[in-house]
Amino acid sequence: MADDHGHAAHAGLDYLSELPQARPHIHETRKFPDGFLWGSATSSHQVEGGNNNNEWWDWEKIPGHILDGTVSGRACEHYTRYEEDFDIAKSLHQNAHRLSVEWSRIEPEEGKWDMDAVIHYRRVLEALKARGMKVMLTCWHFTLPKWFAAKGGWESGEALRLFDRYVSFLAAEYGDLVDIWVTMNEPMVYLVQSYGAGIWPPGATNPLRNVHVFGKMCLAHKAAYRSLHRILDSRPGVNAKAMVGIAQNIITFEPYRKQSIRDGVFVWFADKAFNRQFFIWTKGTHDFIGINYYFHYRIKYVPTKIEQLFYEVHTENREVSDLGWEINTQGIFDAIISMSRYGKPIIITEHGVANADDGKRPRIIVAALKEIYHAIQSGVDIRGYFHWSLMDNFEWEKGFSGRFGLVAIDYVTMKRTPRRSAYVYADICKANGVPHSLLRFMGHGVRW
Ligand code: BGC
Repeated sequence: MADDHGHAAHAGLDYLSELPQARPHIHETRKFPDGFLWGSATSSHQVEGGNNNNEWWDWEKIPGHILDGTVSGRACEHYTRYEEDFDIAKSLHQNAHRLSVEWSRIEPEEGKWDMDAVIHYRRVLEALKARGMKVMLTCWHFTLPKWFAAKGGWESGEALRLFDRYVSFLAAEYGDLVDIWVTMNEPMVYLVQSYGAGIWPPGATNPLRNVHVFGKMCLAHKAAYRSLHRILDSRPGVNAKAMVGIAQNIITFEPYRKQSIRDGVFVWFADKAFNRQFFIWTKGTHDFIGINYYFHYRIKYVPTKIEQLFYEVHTENREVSDLGWEINTQGIFDAIISMSRYGKPIIITEHGVANADDGKRPRIIVAALKEIYHAIQSGVDIRGYFHWSLMDNFEWEKGFSGRFGLVAIDYVTMKRTPRRSAYVYADICKANGVPHSLLRFMGHGVRW
């Protein structure tokens, strides 16, 4: 017999109401280490607006390149509204912020520094410092100045020298204001999108060019790492303790068919090539490992799918984000444990979800932090968590349709409105841990 709710009636066993008592759990806040960085992340082209001097500006205008037909245009007008945005971050108890400077603004023509832009970014970084926030600065987050792209971008024979000069300039200008340096964001994602799938500029699909650029980016990072340290470590008054690394998109791969040796081998290969090869070739030039976590791929090896690099990703009917990406918060634990092999501190440089109605984001934040908490308990030195993103922004080839913000943006009025998740995250930042009450987002009575 079943009751109105379909529950089977068992004599003497009211299991639903007994559950919390049956499974006692701790009511204290799950504390993170002292000094843990709680922040959010953005990148210049995605939020600033008016970045008309990089190669994306022209690329976006070509029909078919941006899925929803939008262009970055005014974006979030963060270039002029950064004070307001940092006030919001501060009011949400964030103690750190990750942002990027736009190379095409700082060096609009080869070898010419635009001092207005240089001073602008100094003010931006000072605005964070004035709010008592730690600064993580990304030197390059996917966009190339038009003049650099015209030379062949990363394929140019001059790429290493030009990137190194740019990064050295940043170190000299902003060394006193930056706590953590990210030389480049997600080199592997850039390679896949720009030289594999061809859906980002320069739109190439050539494996040889891909491998060539991979090698170049490894060398570029190594040179940038050394230049940053040479400049930062030798200048009196400059932050000698600054850490330098990259933000790497880590995908947790899993064989779709557990019994398939071919799927298993492919997973091993994909993990090595995508997640680890960059670190192997740039060994010794990472003070920390930056993890951007979004993807769990259950992959099936398909030998005939040459154009898809021989694999298919399966989500079946699992929970996905607004962009169709599988939600797998447990994967962040595996990503951290895997990357802890390098024996360096780990920073979650990005983690987030496209979720316009915010129905999932609070739970996803709590669930991911549960995993991060456990990774810390397992002995991994994790220094911070930066949610992607502070606000909705221009999601590359997806345009403005992917809504990743803790803060919603009305793109007509430019009004900023914190979502419920922004307040959930604020309570976590304030408590330096996850208050017990927030476990309700995952089901009260869950033990961890
Ligand atoms: C990138 C961001 C992007 C985010 C969400 C990361 O791969 O660094 O630029 O907006 O993921 O897709």
